Amino acid sequence: MQKLNQLLLHPSRQVGADLIAWLGAGGGEGLLVAMENPQSIVPTLQEARLGGMGGAGFPTWRKWEAAVNAQSKNGDRYVVCNANEDEPGTFKDRYLLEHTPHQVIEGALIAAVATRANHVILYINPHQTESIAAVSEAIAQWHAHELFEQLETHLGRPLHLKLVPTSGRYIGGEETAVVSWLNGGFPFPHRKPPYPAESGVADEPTLINNTETFANVPHILRNGAQWYQDLGIGEAVGTKLYSLSGDVLNPGLYELPMGTSLQSLIFDYGGGLLEGRAFKAVFTGGPSNTLLTAADLDVALDFNSVRERHSSLGTGAMIVISEGTSVVRKVSEYVEFFAANSCGQCPPCKSGTFQLARLIDRVDTGIATGDDLRALENLCQILPGSGRCGLIDGAVTVLKSSLRTFPEEYGLPPQTGV
Ligand code: NAI
Repeated sequence: MQKLNQLLLHPSRQVGADLIAWLGAGGGEGLLVAMENPQSIVPTLQEARLGGMGGAGFPTWRKWEAAVNAQSKNGDRYVVCNANEDEPGTFKDRYLLEHTPHQVIEGALIAAVATRANHVILYINPHQTESIAAVSEAIAQWHAHELFEQLETHLGRPLHLKLVPTSGRYIGGEETAVVSWLNGGFPFPHRKPPYPAESGVADEPTLINNTETFANVPHILRNGAQWYQDLGIGEAVGTKLYSLSGDVLNPGLYELPMGTSLQSLIFDYGGGLLEGRAFKAVFTGGPSNTLLTAADLDVALDFNSVRERHSSLGTGAMIVISEGTSVVRKVSEYVEFFAANSCGQCPPCKSGTFQLARLIDRVDTGIATGDDLRALENLCQILPGSGRCGLIDGAVTVLKSSLRTFPEEYGLPPQTGV
């Protein structure tokens, strides 16, 4: 089965934290290109059409340009690699950090060159101890070989690179919560704008990108925008890491062209459903989006195409369920997850996710009444948009989607209008 070799399988990606082996296999060349011509970095990313891999697919160049143009108050500028990765079903960033920490660091340093940042923070979930160990070793090697010091000399200014463990909470990955934590507070999200690129850590310009986004950058700088575009299928560009799990024969992490069909991911790469069962649905990008069903198997897995099906590619997580697996049970687990992970500062989110979890649990255990179902449907109407971040919206989206798509599992007639 074809696997692309950009992020996962290229020889320079097989060396762990061994810096010399990594350099020998072409590592660091993207940074050299960036250092030669810092002004070309953002236009190259624009031409490549790299999108943010944390879930939203937002054009990377636009965020970087916002950080370049933002005014610093006290001369500080930050780059943060977000590796909190706590979305159920997503396991790509920890793989990159454990196996190829240098390419992630290289991408973050290229961002520092582009945005004139003097602080680079690798923000890593402390539960992912192997990621922490690999990145700590990689940073130590950069210093041991004085590469970092050479970069500082070239830039003519100090550059502070450090690893900061996150709070280990799901909500700590939301970018405004990242800022709160790095400012020394509890990781409470806050409303945007201002976007962190404009005003983030210490109220200074702060470029926050997902780990996979940074990992792509060195390859684009080294090989050019056209090369990156050509990796995708059709209008889609580049590759994507898909975390495939659930009722498939071969779960795992796949790097495939952006635009690979859902059918191909599940059947060609995932080996199809367990025990030859029929496909029922897939939770995309973790459990906070609209379910895709058998009618969507032809969808191309790229940000735009999945959005056209009123869902989201998100992080590229695909949790597959087969006939015989209860949608209500799975949604109940996810809504419970959201209830447990609400930070509590927005009362409608805290109490709303709790009520949703209680009601869907009653459905799952077969004791729901008509009033319970009406309450569930009402909450789905009034809760969206009531939180400072997207947590409550994610819980409602997956619940509404399951009510609409599998009403019979809730004991409802088809098409309730929810
Ligand atoms: P968003 O749509 O608000 O923003 C996306 C990115 O674009 C952000 O970094 C934001 O700062 C930036 N941005 C937007 N407009 C900008 C502007 N004018 N100037 C500068 N920057 C701008 O999305 P959000 O809330 O950051 O992320 C939502 C996505 O995260 C969802 O698609 C969801 O799938 C995903 N997600 C990922 C999780 C994970 O563990 N990786 C967990 C939960 C959700």
